[in-house]
Amino acid sequence: MATEELISRMGDDPESKTLQDSSPIQVIGGQGTYSYFKNSTYQKLAANVSKEKVDKAIKRTLDVKSLLSSSPYPTNTIRLVDCGCADGPNTFDAMQDLIETIMEICKSQCPDSKMPEFQVFLNDQTYNDFNTLFTSLPQEREYFVAGVPGSFHKRLFPESFVHVVHVSHALHWLSQPPEELVDRASGAWNKGRIHYAFAPEEVVNAYANQFARDFDNFLNARAKEIVRGGIIVISNPSIPDGMPYSLIANGLMYECMGDILNHMVEEGLISEAQVDTFNLPIYSCPLREFTALVERNGNFRIEAIGLTNPSPWLEGRINMPEFVKHIRAAFEGMFSKHFPLEICEEMYRRLVERLDEINDEMTACYRDGIQLYAVLQRKRFKLVQR
Ligand SMILES: C[S@@+](CC[C@H](N)C(=O)[O-])C[C@H]1O[C@@H](n2cnc3c(N)ncnc32)[C@H](O)[C@@H]1O
Repeated sequence: MATEELISRMGDDPESKTLQDSSPIQVIGGQGTYSYFKNSTYQKLAANVSKEKVDKAIKRTLDVKSLLSSSPYPTNTIRLVDCGCADGPNTFDAMQDLIETIMEICKSQCPDSKMPEFQVFLNDQTYNDFNTLFTSLPQEREYFVAGVPGSFHKRLFPESFVHVVHVSHALHWLSQPPEELVDRASGAWNKGRIHYAFAPEEVVNAYANQFARDFDNFLNARAKEIVRGGIIVISNPSIPDGMPYSLIANGLMYECMGDILNHMVEEGLISEAQVDTFNLPIYSCPLREFTALVERNGNFRIEAIGLTNPSPWLEGRINMPEFVKHIRAAFEGMFSKHFPLEICEEMYRRLVERLDEINDEMTACYRDGIQLYAVLQRKRFKLVQR
């Protein structure tokens, strides 16, 4: 698109969206070409990679009888939550798989008992497209469903109510970009960049601290809601300890996005201030840091943890238009909250071209160790730290 046409299509004041806004961001709803619903197979395939290890850990950890008796009143219903479920369809497979694993456990641990009933709570932020989610629920399902809108960084349920929590590719979404990133007086001022991948240590630390606060809030909220012996199953982007942050899965892409936006500043399409006040609220927590945060929180025991390759199926070059459609489906809200829609469209158009030029380098980033899986068990008693 010509620069003049783009400027004229931008319509009103491009400066109007310059502050770091902390209201919720959602994936692209509906079932259209760019929707998350139609463009989330990478996340599904990535989560499946650790399924075997996760299943083994769940079977080793869950004691169904004591789980059900840990509820404040007798129950034969196992309650599962998918935190950050989006609008489907990955959540449906994830919940079905988990229920099948728990059914196997029930059959082997309590062969003479009646199979429990299952109730699934689908959680995401209030702006999530819950209509698409509920209208596309599988017709044949062995569970009851309810929606729970709200941030998983806060309480979502009554005390000791939930048995199993699942959270896949959602914990790395920060509640907000760290505030220091837009503070000129701070060493973490992230001028001209939109992420920490190629940034100084102060910027990385600001992101790490924000994740630490958010994750601690998540764990504290779940610790109240999950019955003793209940579990959290996690899969999330990560990074091996000591690997340079520029090598995180999408580090190169974030750098390209920043470059494209900076070029748009030079072309007069957006202002410098718009770029300087924009930072992606995404953090891939390294394994050791993640482990330390769980241990410091103290409410959960780590039953299984490890790193995997999210895309062992990737052969040859990445299909870049397809890849960027997946990225856009998940990230669109982050950009469109800050930049006019035409700018976002142009950014994604240029991104396909730029990433295709470095296709080999991008492909090399998808390696072993950049996805974390974990199974955490709610401790029966929290140890008091002295
Ligand atoms: C990349 S999508 C992953 C969706 C799904 N779990 C999957 O694997 O396909 C991340 C989802 O997490 C949700 N999310 C991010 N932060 C959240 C929060 N604080 N509370 C609830 N949901 C959140 C987003 O709205 C988004 O729908």
